[in-house]
Amino acid sequence: MKTWNFNHHHHFIIFLIFIISASLLHSSSSLKIGETCSKDSDCDAGLRCETCKANGNTRPRCSRTQPLIPTSKVKGLAFNKYSWLTSHNSFAMSGTIKSSTGSILLAPTNQEDSVTSQLRNGVRGLMLDMYDFQNNIWLCHSFGGKCFNFTAFQPAINVLREIQTFLQANPTEIVTIIIEDYVTSSMGLTKVFNAAGLSKFMFPLSRMPKNGSDWPTVDDMVQKNQRLLVFTSAKSKEASEGIAYQWNYMVENQYGDEGMIDGSCPNRGESPPMNTTTASLVLVNYFPTNPNSTQACAKNSAPLISMINTCFQQDGRRWPNFIAVDYYQRSDGGGASEAVDVANGHLTCGCDNIAYCKAGGTFGSCNIPKLAPPPPAALSSSSSNGNPSTQSSDAHKYNQKILQRWLYGSLLTSILLLVV
Ligand SMILES: *[C@@H]1O[C@H](CO)[C@@H](O)[C@H](O)[C@H]1NC(C)=O
Ligand SMILES: *[C@@H]1O[C@H](CO)[C@@H](O)[C@H](O)[C@H]1NC(C)=O
Ligand SMILES: *[C@@H]1O[C@H](CO)[C@@H](O)[C@H](O)[C@H]1NC(C)=O
Ligand SMILES: *[C@@H]1O[C@H](CO)[C@@H](O)[C@H](O)[C@H]1NC(C)=O
Repeated sequence: MKTWNFNHHHHFIIFLIFIISASLLHSSSSLKIGETCSKDSDCDAGLRCETCKANGNTRPRCSRTQPLIPTSKVKGLAFNKYSWLTSHNSFAMSGTIKSSTGSILLAPTNQEDSVTSQLRNGVRGLMLDMYDFQNNIWLCHSFGGKCFNFTAFQPAINVLREIQTFLQANPTEIVTIIIEDYVTSSMGLTKVFNAAGLSKFMFPLSRMPKNGSDWPTVDDMVQKNQRLLVFTSAKSKEASEGIAYQWNYMVENQYGDEGMIDGSCPNRGESPPMNTTTASLVLVNYFPTNPNSTQACAKNSAPLISMINTCFQQDGRRWPNFIAVDYYQRSDGGGASEAVDVANGHLTCGCDNIAYCKAGGTFGSCNIPKLAPPPPAALSSSSSNGNPSTQSSDAHKYNQKILQRWLYGSLLTSILLLVV
């Protein structure tokens, strides 16, 4: 009888511990977008904990780092009916202090994670600057068309292999590489793509539409395993190596500061005018001439969406297929991921955001959720002109949370003491 009692008691305690641990775990990793956090792991998957001081957002909150999967709502459309998140100078990762040459690196940086991590977060357009250097092709952030030890990041093959690994492991994903091409060595690009094992994934030039018609569908590209699009800025490579000259297929707005003037979306010099209908792909650049990690969160937010709308008006009412930014993860909440969702909403289902697309619905039938007003951007304790009632309610919630954790903690300790 005694033994039975003990076992019963024991099971109950294990059950309690289980419940308590589960709720502790749950409360520490389930924060939604916009909720106050203290570290990345507090937030749901696809979010990280961020402030955006440039926007007056000093309250650390869960912010997006991943767009919704473009093909998740309306599947099987032509490739040019989707929008893809694109990282500018994808290879120029901050924190890279040394070039692979061993030299100190004196080049500006534009991103803060590796290409592998970018691909994991849903980046599908990669802008890579390639140069002849040290009898090889290197990724360089340089000037005058020449690469130097102190501007050379690493041999291109390293990053191309990361892309190869991703394509191999994800048989339904499509990746686009846009090369700023300073390579003049004979068959230089072909050799490095071959060496990286990427040739088998290449979408052939012969299938690229040259008159503005639709691209093959994403399903067709997946089925034929033609899941890597490569564009070069060097016109001669189309004839010499069969690599697509970017501006035969794509229009692109001005990059750098000149491309960030509110209300204007001029084409980049090398690109045909934005409203050229013989090019069926549209790329919107939105990053300053000098990369700025502290301003990026603000620029990647409302101003980016505004620019996409401006470009829409000027490019013959087309939404961008590629949205290219610096520090793609930085935002005041939604950022470049949100911008890609907006473009995919318009492109795939005729709604203002892909999140509003009705599964299996007709074009233009949208499901717009009613949203609660967002909490204030500023950290209430440090804002002197904050709404006092919000402050106290925030403080109240915070204290409640502390109290809850303290209660759980004490309970857990007592139970453990009892068991021992
Ligand atoms: C550049 O780096 C290479 C090693 O990768 C080294 O052999 C060479 O001397 C360096 N050049 C200069 C000018 O420092
Ligand atoms: C455009 O080119 C595609 C092949 O790229 C061809 O099938 C189509 O007929 C062409 N359309 C026009 C209007 O020329
Ligand atoms: C394209 O835009 C220019 C102005 O930038 C305008 O003059 C031209 O008519 C437009 N072309 C088309 C085909 O809409
Ligand atoms: C970023 O922009 C801010 C505000 O314009 C400026 O103060 C800062 O110097 C810039 N940083 C860089 C690295 O350019």
